[in-house]
Amino acid sequence: MALADDVVELLIYILPAMVANGAPVVGAKFYGRGHPIDMGARMPDGRRVLGDGKTVEGFIVGVLAGLVVGILETLALNENLIGASLASSVGALLGDMAGSFIKRRLGKERGAPVPLLDQLDFYIGALAMLYLAGYSISMGAAMVMAFVIIILHVSTNWIAYQLGLKSVPW
Ligand code: CTP
Ligand code: MG
Repeated sequence: MALADDVVELLIYILPAMVANGAPVVGAKFYGRGHPIDMGARMPDGRRVLGDGKTVEGFIVGVLAGLVVGILETLALNENLIGASLASSVGALLGDMAGSFIKRRLGKERGAPVPLLDQLDFYIGALAMLYLAGYSISMGAAMVMAFVIIILHVSTNWIAYQLGLKSVPW
């Protein structure tokens, strides 16, 4: 089926973004609070540009982790996916920053939940960067993947809550 093929192809492109998005959470256990990308700056609304949750360390760890996925994919599939994985990872981190920028403008503190934006900001950023870098994305596959990402987020957070890793199930 054509859609199934498109979804598999998109997954290969998006996997680096997924890892790039998750890596800073793990990385933060090692680098601690890190250095905020906005350097503490505030917008005229008095709130932080991005907030303390977006750090230089997290950005670097995320891009490197996504690149590692791209190298593994390149070796496994015998196709050069380094450039695509970099576009995907950088796009994911920029999308995540854009999400935080929007959250701050909405008056939401760091970590406050904003459904859909929290789950999809990195994904939209990755899709946009892949597109700008010249990779063609199937619209149908992009929709299917959006649902998969939302379901993955909800279920992994629920599992993390059951395991006692998180204090709230979302
Ligand atoms: N992180 C980071 N640098 C980044 C992205 C994420 O250090 N560029 C780390 C931070 O420790 C952050 C955690 O990963 O707290 C989880 O990321 P995310 O959920 O995106 O941030 P929040 O803390 O929820 O902040 P926000 O409300 O801005 O999304
Ligand atoms: Mg968050």
